Formats: sequence, structure tokens, C-alpha cells
Amino acid sequence: MLWKIIALLLFTAFFSACDANNFLNSFLKKEKEKTRIGLSIPTLREARWQRDLKYLKESAVAADAELFTEISENNAAVQEQQCDELLKKNIKVLIVAPHDAKAAASIADKAKAAGIKIISYDRLILGADLDLYVSFDNVKIGEFQAKYITSKAPQGNYIVFSGASTDNNAKLFREGAMKVLAPLEESGKIHIVEDAPIPDWDSDMAEKMTETILAKYNGEIHAVIAPNDSTAGGIIRALKKHHIAGLVPVSGQDSDVEAVHRIMQGMQAMTIFKDSHNLASAAISAAMSLAAGEKPFSNAVAQNGKGQIPAMLLEPVVVDNSNIVPTLVQTGYLSREQVYAVNENEGQPQRRTFNINNVPGNTSAGY
Ligand code: GAL
Repeated sequence: MLWKIIALLLFTAFFSACDANNFLNSFLKKEKEKTRIGLSIPTLREARWQRDLKYLKESAVAADAELFTEISENNAAVQEQQCDELLKKNIKVLIVAPHDAKAAASIADKAKAAGIKIISYDRLILGADLDLYVSFDNVKIGEFQAKYITSKAPQGNYIVFSGASTDNNAKLFREGAMKVLAPLEESGKIHIVEDAPIPDWDSDMAEKMTETILAKYNGEIHAVIAPNDSTAGGIIRALKKHHIAGLVPVSGQDSDVEAVHRIMQGMQAMTIFKDSHNLASAAISAAMSLAAGEKPFSNAVAQNGKGQIPAMLLEPVVVDNSNIVPTLVQTGYLSREQVYAVNENEGQPQRRTFNINNVPGNTSAGY
């Protein structure tokens, strides 16, 4: 009898061990089979990139993919070196939001040479073969900004700021804005007194540049095209020093919470909502398709100097004081608390009377 019990115990122990082993093997296999994706983000300075990163991570988890992330702190050399490391991680796809559109071509070339698919995220990599470009309709963003600002300041002296010259988006935003502004300048309605890029989209730099221009034109500036919210913040700080914040319409982009506060206070005219949740999930689902050897969905093509790149472009939305809640709060982009936590010290729009003698035609640039 005893030997029967021992045999039964041995038999059970053997099969439990086998089961555990099988379970472990299949678990490890599943872990091994997870699609590995590399991600290189240029910066976390603007809140929008922090959001992109969060949503990209969440989308990767939902797709059961393994995401390896690097942040390059606005440095092209660092970004390339970090991507070299990502390419060694047995990834199937590399998603890159380039700091420098041209410099990043070597990252894309290396990925291609290693048989790794490459997606250009938000910003287009120039001069390299890419599998997909996922972004927004960036020309339309520039058009929206300029249309809004010219509706508030149909005449007067304009500053046209663009973003970092290393970023292809900056070129596209300006291109869109000039579609609206150039005919108005030709007809003499507006006068573009300065047209300059802001290095690295830097807010402090934007403030300094605006101060210099305001000093040069004795404060006679009636509208500012700001490419995004971080630069708009710097521009508005400079306008405050000249007591004309709130009188000079300033555009923006990204729906940063500080910009939304400025809009509510009448300091900034508008911003753009780009749903980074949709952008991130589009990029991860495209990465999964590419990894599976399938062609990802695209709805446009982009010329990047190397060829026609399949593109997936999402729609931007204009945000002003009239649609903050439905556009930003009801979509969950910002919480109600964030939106209504306005710092009283940020102040109220300032008032002054323009000297418009040197402006073509009459103007009601203040709004
Ligand atoms: C652009 C991007 C904008 C803005 C800017 C600064 O490429 O499209 O949303 O954030 O970079 O990072």
C-alpha cells in the first residue's frame, strides 16, 4: 500500500512540476513575443510632450507592446546616440519625434539598415526614407492662427514669430500663417514689421525678442503670431511690461493650462487643441501594424526631400474663450480644476490708447 501512495505522490509532484514548467515557458514565451518598440522624444519641457509620453506608454500597454523610451533634451547629438542604443534593443519599430529634422535623417537611415521600421512622430524627419509620418495638419494650424488673429486685428503692425528653425513643423505653421497674412500685407492692410524664428521654441528668448521689437517700434505692435503657447507666454510677459497685454492679440498652440488661463483673462487670444491621445494611439497602432508586416493606415502623403512619405494627419481645433469646456474639459484633456485654478496674480488685461498714426488705415487692434 505504502509504495502505491509514494508512487501517487511522485506522479502528482512530477506533473505539477511539468505544469509549472509549461506555465513558466509559455509565460516567458509570451513576454519574449511582445512587440518591442523604441521611442525617442525631443523634450519634456512643454506640457504637450509630457502628455504625449504618457499616452504613448498607455497605448503601448493596451497593445501589449514593450516600449523603450529616451528623452533627448533638445539635443540632436544626444538624440542620435540614444537612438543608437534603442536600435540595439531588438526593437521592431522606432518612433522618433526629431529635435532636428535634418540631423535625424541619420537615425532613420540606421534604422532602415538594421531592418527596423521607422515612424516620424509629430515632426517630420527630412531627407530620409520613412515608413510613416504621424502628425496633425500643421499648415492648417498656421492658417487657423493667422485667421483668428487677423479677425481681431484686421490692420496694423504684425510680428510673425515662428518656432525653432530645426523643426519642420515651424516651417509648416509659418507657411499656413503666410497664406492668410501675405495677401493682407500686399493689400497694405497689415504691415509685417518682424518675421523671425524663436530658437528652440524658448519662452525666455521669445520674451527678449519681443522686448527688442517693442523698443524698436516704440510699442506700436498690434498683433503677434506666436507659434505655440510656450512662446506666447514669453511674448505676453514682454507685452505686460509695455502695458499692452490683452490689447494685442497673440496666438498660441498646444492648449497648455497656463495658456488657457491667459485666454480666460483676455491676455492670449487663442490656442490650438491637438489631441495627443489620438496621436499617440495612432502611432502605436501603426507601429503594431508595421511590426506585423502590414501597411499602416494613412490619409495623406508628405514630401520630405527624399520621397513621398505615407502620412497620417489628424485635425487640429481652434480654442478660444468660447469653447474651453467642450473642447478641453469634456474631452478629458484638462480637468475642470486645472482650468479654473486661475492665479489671481496673473492679472487682468491692460488698457492703453494706441498711437496709430504710423499704421496704414485705422485700426481697432485692441480687443
Ligand atoms: C512642435 C510641436 C508643437 C510644440 C513645439 C515645441 O514641433 O508641434 O506642438 O510643442 O514643437 O515643442
